[in-house]
Amino acid sequence: ATKLILDLDTGIDDALAIAYALGSSEVELIGITGTYGNVKVDDGVRNSLAITDLFGHPEVKVYRGLPHASAAESFAVSDISRLIHGSNGIGDVDIPDSSREPESESAVDFIIDAVKTYGKDLVYVPTGPMTNIDAAIAKAPEIINEIGAIVLMGGALTVCGNVSPWAEANIDQDPDAANRLFRSGAPATMVGLDVTLKTLLTYQQTQRWRDLGTKAGNFLADMTDYYIRAYEVASPHLGGCGLHDPLAVGVAVDPTLVRTFDLNMQVDVQGATRGRTIGDNTRLNDPVKTMKVAVDVDARRFLNEFMTRITTLAEQ
Ligand code: BDR
Ligand code: CA
Repeated sequence: ATKLILDLDTGIDDALAIAYALGSSEVELIGITGTYGNVKVDDGVRNSLAITDLFGHPEVKVYRGLPHASAAESFAVSDISRLIHGSNGIGDVDIPDSSREPESESAVDFIIDAVKTYGKDLVYVPTGPMTNIDAAIAKAPEIINEIGAIVLMGGALTVCGNVSPWAEANIDQDPDAANRLFRSGAPATMVGLDVTLKTLLTYQQTQRWRDLGTKAGNFLADMTDYYIRAYEVASPHLGGCGLHDPLAVGVAVDPTLVRTFDLNMQVDVQGATRGRTIGDNTRLNDPVKTMKVAVDVDARRFLNEFMTRITTLAEQ
């Protein structure tokens, strides 16, 4: 099976991404690396440990990543993040803390070691800021050519951002890191808002989880209902909540879920548009394209996979 690392700022859709990965027998989740964003890094790590326990997978190791953006000295959770993900990141739902601790190895070293061990069999899926992978590449630049694939949730090619007219939240947290990654030549697929806002979940589906009558089902339903309520307030025109992070996992498991466009990308790091993902005009005519940008998704098929995999996981 393909080896998978999830790099998460464990909020609600990150938690759903964990469930999707654990429900996918095509991949083996070999570790979760923690980042900051929806919550502080330590809170995200705590959530990841608790959630993997709740889903019956205490073997999944969790590694602490860097606590703030590459060019910053600290990080604070924004009011918007709290509104969307709750103050604990998982919709203010209480689940038991894990008795496990994060691993002593850092997220950055674990990423490098995993590339050395698994090479092309490794897929790395960041669904928060790109700070950890950026630091890993700075420390061991050769991993760019050794890693199997990077499937990232972030950015937007043909639509607006979500924290500003230009910027999507994950890229906005650390535009410099994302820009270095995009221009590094690493084989990355960008799963941005163009596609994730076409994959929506409603109360109809969360009720199916509640009806399971299991701890995992109740947790998924209560947590995700919080997220849907937040979307009803922030983006009522959508009619559901965006399955951003689970779609990145979906694409890592089955790339045919999306249609992609080969394009060398960059991130604006200066001026008013800081955080915008855009074609790199110095490499547009380069015959070698190192990135793929998702431009369309088979939303029905994805939603079906999403519900089947997560519901089966939550049945136990
Ligand atoms: C992304 O931002 C975070 O709030 C979500 O978890 C997702 O990764 C969507 O822009
Ligand atoms: Ca996320």
